[in-house]
Amino acid sequence: MASSYSDVYDAWKQDPEAFWAKAAVDIDWFRRPERVFDPDRGVYGLWFTGGKTNTCFNCLDRHVASGRADQPALIYDSPVTGTVEHWTYGAMLEEVVALAAVYRDLGVRKGDRVIIYMPMIPQAAFAMLAAARIGAVHSVVFGGFAANELATRISDSAAKLVVSASCGIEGGRAIAYKPLLDAAIDISAHKPDRCLVYQRKELRAELHPDRDLDFASAVSEAKRSGNDVACTPVLATDPLYVLYTSGTTGQPKGVVRDNGGHMVALSWSMHSFFGLKPGEVFWAASDIGWVVGHSYIVYGPLLNGSTSVLYEGKPVGTPDAAAYWRVIEQHGVTKLFTAPTAFRAIRKEDPQGELIRRHDISRLRALFLAGERADPDTVAWAEAKLNVPVIDNWWQTETGWPVAGNPIGLGLLPVKYGSAAVPLPGYDVEILDDAGHPVSAGTLGNVVIKLPLPPGCLPTFWNADERFRESCLTEFPGYYRTADAGYIDDDGYIFIMSRTDDIINVAGHRLSTGSMEEICASHADVAECAVIGVADAIKGQVPAGFLVINANVSRATTEIEREVVALVRERLGPVAAFKTAICVKRLPKTRSGKILRATMKRIADCESWKMPATIDDPAVLEEISAALKARGYCIIP
Ligand code: COA
Ligand code: AMP
Repeated sequence: MASSYSDVYDAWKQDPEAFWAKAAVDIDWFRRPERVFDPDRGVYGLWFTGGKTNTCFNCLDRHVASGRADQPALIYDSPVTGTVEHWTYGAMLEEVVALAAVYRDLGVRKGDRVIIYMPMIPQAAFAMLAAARIGAVHSVVFGGFAANELATRISDSAAKLVVSASCGIEGGRAIAYKPLLDAAIDISAHKPDRCLVYQRKELRAELHPDRDLDFASAVSEAKRSGNDVACTPVLATDPLYVLYTSGTTGQPKGVVRDNGGHMVALSWSMHSFFGLKPGEVFWAASDIGWVVGHSYIVYGPLLNGSTSVLYEGKPVGTPDAAAYWRVIEQHGVTKLFTAPTAFRAIRKEDPQGELIRRHDISRLRALFLAGERADPDTVAWAEAKLNVPVIDNWWQTETGWPVAGNPIGLGLLPVKYGSAAVPLPGYDVEILDDAGHPVSAGTLGNVVIKLPLPPGCLPTFWNADERFRESCLTEFPGYYRTADAGYIDDDGYIFIMSRTDDIINVAGHRLSTGSMEEICASHADVAECAVIGVADAIKGQVPAGFLVINANVSRATTEIEREVVALVRERLGPVAAFKTAICVKRLPKTRSGKILRATMKRIADCESWKMPATIDDPAVLEEISAALKARGYCIIP
């Protein structure tokens, strides 16, 4: 089929408001928006002002009302507990209504914040939708973060309620969540009123008598009392959720998502980008703690009346590298979405793809890869082994849905390896040099998006309009700065190459080296430090920290290195995968004192590098190189 992409993109460009007004018909509104876009409200304008709606209603109630009550909405597949559960739209609505009643009885009201710190279990999705139902604002915190990170989020959002579980399960290990939650509440300046804790049989938690409530008993009680909770009408511009993501300091940024624009954009993406039909099975193998999980495990597929797979496991090791193929076969998955790192992990275990051939994956129509750069090798391998289109798509927590990708729903365009293909309607992507001038095709520069951002993108940061302006809108006036570097070729294909800030991508997880440096520097024996992202065959990048020890310290450096590794794990969490700390005599710096992190990275990655003209003492790079070599990293070419 010839792609209608160009026509659709041009139609959007000619009249963005007409385009989004048409897309908004996919959504049920309690009151239609007064304006499609109001440029005079919010930081750069707001979408669908005056409209009233409810995200839970659009995800569940309307589908139950229109005959989908018995269709699975969610398939929970957990190889780590040996569980498969099918939750129909009808059953899910019942759970969500009961949980919304529990929230309401605990005093949660429209606009109040609910922190959700949960593993990949259906109750996590119920917790999100129950908040949406009563107009409360949820903020999901990824389970691999430490107590300190959870505390920052509880405190910044001033959450009234925390919903959690007794444990997560990583591989074969039960990871207790409750001690982390208790520690976070101790640290946090703001204390939530109550905690609702889902007890898992793998590891039960002790509940705090005055503060904690058993999730399952509270929900059963609400069901017994027959409490019905109608969907609270909220403004399209009211916040649905806040998702904290790494910024360039230790203080994460609370990305706000509204209700109306979010639903319109996700709905459009489901049919026109992913090409997913209602009733089909979609699987985003991510975690609800990340934006991919919000958009494409929970909201997108449900808005579309599709079936979503919620998978509690890994691509390898639970139990083996055939896990993905087993799930695709068993549940009839038509579209799989994951991060390239998962495919690199699978390929390492099963380079010939023999395990794939043991499963019937014939219902699979496409693989979508995002979260990090999809290296051409991995894309080619997946194409050859799965025999379906492999679609790299580029976006961020801030945008909430793909900025660029090959829109299978509109008809596929030719594939170019290494490129996330073309901008989707809503996004006018340009490449600017550091002075803000457009560069010619094929030239690397700052990737920016012309304002206004489309529906679904963040209107601002939580309680921090000024920080949003400063970090995203000021450097290139009139544009949103993505903090990615890349280029656009003569055919309009976008190539995203790296970040322009200190963010690194570790196994598809977004982390700030700046916040790791803050933690390393807090060790009593560390005088100064630098953390860089070093290339890793599976995870894409992993952090490595270089530590300069205080002059008066005589302890063994290996001991300090071990302590610093433990400190990052304790403060940031295991997800940081910070396993390498190297004590060095000095850090390489420019004459004005700037640490030459980019050159250190090139040395560690075994790439060619030039002695920076501004370096203070060239000998330091030789020392760094020797230290890396001693740890098995590259030798200077
Ligand atoms: N709760 C508690 N701990 C968690 C966790 C969670 N939800 N998620 C990860 N962790 C821990 C892991 O157990 C591991 O701890 P360890 O150092 O004790 O082994 C650490 O955090 C790092 O986890 P991870 O980066 O996931 O590494 P891994 O070696 O366990 O698995 C991959 C590597 C590539 C298989 C895995 O990262 C993966 O499947 N990633 C791709 C999919 C994805 O989720 N992408 C996100 C955006 S789309
Ligand atoms: P997150 O906010 O966690 O989704 O991370 C967003 C960042 O991940 C982007 O700014 C990019 O740096 C990177 N990223 C995501 N998808 C891609 C992709 N398809 N290609 C290259 N980089 C990507």
